Amino acid sequence: MSKKETLLDLLLSDPQEFVSGEEISRRLSVSRTAVWKQINKLREAGYEFEAVPHKGYRIVSKPERIDALLLVKTLKTKTIGQNLKVLDSTVSTQEEARELAEAGAPEGTLVIAEEQTGGKGRMGRKWFSPKGKGISMSVVLRPKQPMHYMPQLTLLTGVAVCRAVRRVTGVMAGMKWPNDLLVDGRKISGILLESATEDEYVRYCIAGIGISANQDHEDYPEELKPIATSLKIEKGEKIDRIQLIAAIWEEFEALYALYQQEGFAPIASLWEALSVTLGKTVNVTIASGPVTGKAEKLDPSGALLVVTEDGRRVPVFSGDVEL
Ligand code: BTN
Repeated sequence: MSKKETLLDLLLSDPQEFVSGEEISRRLSVSRTAVWKQINKLREAGYEFEAVPHKGYRIVSKPERIDALLLVKTLKTKTIGQNLKVLDSTVSTQEEARELAEAGAPEGTLVIAEEQTGGKGRMGRKWFSPKGKGISMSVVLRPKQPMHYMPQLTLLTGVAVCRAVRRVTGVMAGMKWPNDLLVDGRKISGILLESATEDEYVRYCIAGIGISANQDHEDYPEELKPIATSLKIEKGEKIDRIQLIAAIWEEFEALYALYQQEGFAPIASLWEALSVTLGKTVNVTIASGPVTGKAEKLDPSGALLVVTEDGRRVPVFSGDVEL
């Protein structure tokens, strides 16, 4: 039996009772530092503790798993998630979905993981999410479109996530161009769209969504604490991840159908209504250099139009916008 299991056995044998660090250390024959490290490992794995000075620790909640059967029952979609893979751990759901897409998986194939050991963000960044607390998922899409329409799909995905978050949790998140969801300036979700193309046409694309759902403040590394938050922190209670996942794909499917019938204009209007970027002065670096100006609206391609002080209207196609 591993040390981790032994510590768990000890804490779960009488869950109402506190067990002191000293007693754990004596019964497991490990140092107090080792006890503290094991507690932290369990925290990372999704366990929550009450820690009281002079009394010790007790478990207040165990990690929940996203149950594939329950999710299938909850999903009301026609295509998204009809082909579903729920993993305990993977490097990145983007990679899992890409492999499935290459092997011919149909549109709507959905991969969800409790843990990503190499979660990817935009612009080569990492995506951090402790096991069992966030939502990390990627879907295979096969839009019959040229490559340059893909930014529109990123914005559409953001709208779907934002609408579902507001509906299910009541947390009034807003969109920061192009694809971050913010609550009072702090990030709760990011979206990564990756495409495989042939002759400028999309063979498939993978839409990846990362959401900070049930993270606690102490789950974040120091450098992220001032800029990140979770739905649980904002709402003050745990989020039902299955309900949220189901709502996201329901919203997504409706918006995707609307997009295929009527094009980007209605999606752009919805995005603009949820935006926390428009009307603000932003700084962004584009190929020709830094640009500062007022974010005005989306252009028909999905680029952000920034009006500079000298009246130029500059379309921003990619990059990080600083508010
Ligand atoms: C960003 O904000 O930079 C985008 C973050 C996207 C993270 C999600 S989590 C699921 C999917 N798998 C990954 O490795 N990344 C995306």
